[in-house]
Amino acid sequence: MCGIVAYIGPKDASPFLLEGLQRLEYRGYDSAGVAVVAPATKGSPARLRICRTKGRVADLAAALPARFKGGTGIGHTRWATHGVPSDANAHPHTDNEGRIAVVHNGIIENAEELRAKLTADGAVFRSETDTEVLAHLIAAHRAQGGELEDAVRAALGLVIGTYGIAVLDAEQADRIVVARNGSPIVLGIGEKEMFAASDVSALVRYTRQVVHLEDGELATVRADGFRTFTEDARTVTRQPSTVDWEVGSYDTGGYAHYLLKEIHEQPGAVERTLSGRLDERFATAHLGGLNLDARELREIRRVKILGCGSAYYAGEMGAQLIEELARIPAHSEPASEFRYRNPVIEADTLYVAVSQSGETYDTLAAVQEVKRKGGRVLGVVNTVGSAIARACDGGIYLHAGPEVSVASTKAFTSTVVAFALLALHFGRVHDLSPADGRRIVAALKALPGQIREVLDQQDAVAELAAEYADSQGMMFIGRVRGYPVAREGAQKLKEISYVHAEAYPASELKHGPLALISPELPTVALVPDDELLDKNLTALGEIKAREGRVLAVAHRPIESRLADHCLVVPKSEPELDPLLLNIPLQLLAYHAAVALGRDVDKPRNLAKSVTVE
Ligand code: AGP
Repeated sequence: MCGIVAYIGPKDASPFLLEGLQRLEYRGYDSAGVAVVAPATKGSPARLRICRTKGRVADLAAALPARFKGGTGIGHTRWATHGVPSDANAHPHTDNEGRIAVVHNGIIENAEELRAKLTADGAVFRSETDTEVLAHLIAAHRAQGGELEDAVRAALGLVIGTYGIAVLDAEQADRIVVARNGSPIVLGIGEKEMFAASDVSALVRYTRQVVHLEDGELATVRADGFRTFTEDARTVTRQPSTVDWEVGSYDTGGYAHYLLKEIHEQPGAVERTLSGRLDERFATAHLGGLNLDARELREIRRVKILGCGSAYYAGEMGAQLIEELARIPAHSEPASEFRYRNPVIEADTLYVAVSQSGETYDTLAAVQEVKRKGGRVLGVVNTVGSAIARACDGGIYLHAGPEVSVASTKAFTSTVVAFALLALHFGRVHDLSPADGRRIVAALKALPGQIREVLDQQDAVAELAAEYADSQGMMFIGRVRGYPVAREGAQKLKEISYVHAEAYPASELKHGPLALISPELPTVALVPDDELLDKNLTALGEIKAREGRVLAVAHRPIESRLADHCLVVPKSEPELDPLLLNIPLQLLAYHAAVALGRDVDKPRNLAKSVTVE
């Protein structure tokens, strides 16, 4: 949520800042801004130049004055929390004199209190943001002498909340100071130039050598290097690591949208999630990062899965897999609810946190709540080294590759695959037979090819999407294994097309939602060829009897008296069928959004990583 970029070096900062912001725009896109230190000229000292605007990075680029020169600069793309999207609320924010500029991700919880004190001391606030407090605070400490980094440390000592920040000082243009607490900051090491950003995707075109700051750390970044230190001024040594994703991983690669690219990347993403983890000899999964031996696994009596949005729905599929394969009670709950309800944490429960970004604040807070009460948490996370991954006791990385589009697709699928591996491993430690283990191993290996088969039906799905897109809403139904698929299908449709979508267990139809059925409200029905097929067909009959239109996703064609249209997907093992049933729903949502002219990768009001409460 929100993106930060910073540059210091011999070149002009603006081209990097704008390109970096464009790459980070998926994290927030209601306003954007940059600040550079314009060098001193005869008779006038170095000064800050700032350009910021409501709207997209493209609007900022258009608004940027032609001669916006300076080799030290910071930039920001915003997802509003405090104050409406507007020019005034766009970052960077400055102090009264316009000497200090700050960009900030996160939330300053005691902003109101600090604002009152600063106002009493003469600070003039020009925005509604919590961030502006930081600019005035840092300026107040700089006024007392000392270096910029000392002023930033002192200011942060007064702040309660989360932040990733980058700070410029017109009078110390030889450095940028960055700090992290709950919101990522990564440094990029160049040739006599340095970069910083909230996400490596902004840096990969310029450098692969990066340094991730830890929470509670700051860094002084100069053109020729950096120094990392703690809030109490202790120097810490951070070794650079190498980013292994190709630059192309962050491009649309010829697809019309990131979302379409990411949907089509799923076979490869699943291969990477499975890579080196299937143990055919013992018909199990090998998961090196769990940090749990067989004895400890056998002591687990329950599994509680925590995630938000699609991660929560992937967790529901994961819970189903664990119950079926390991016969251990498992349940998925929104992390955003769990963290607020003073949950009972049990020693024999295994908690599993799910997050693509590894940054979602509610999920991180849920992990912290479990850990504080002595529970054990595994992470199922895509972003290596992210806050949630680091907070967990062990876990499974998805290796799905960077996911840029706000709507999650390949990370969702890889998460379910990771849960299948976990369930297989658990199952084989318990009572899952070698024959059943082999059945699941073979089915997992077949998944990438089967996903390709579904993706080959894209044109047919696009046609159907165009037909259904102008409906007043859509109902998604599924039964037992199919219900989480219905929930994720509805989530995807509403998120990117803004078509209202509701998901119900098919079994619940006649307990209320059947009243909604009419020709104007079509139903997407998950109809797998499993032990519940007859029950599902009965539900379709009930919908058709009320003149409802039905689009079925099934393993074989459904007769026309029960469904108006049918998408047929390849059959896996019943436990893994949900994965394949979900793929056409992603395509359906995508093509509906395109047909309706939506901003597919950046749906209104949303952002990729929700790093606020
Ligand atoms: C998915 O399409 C959504 N954008 C959203 O629900 C997302 O899954 C949720 O915010 C959790 O994100 P995370 O996986 O990065 O934690």
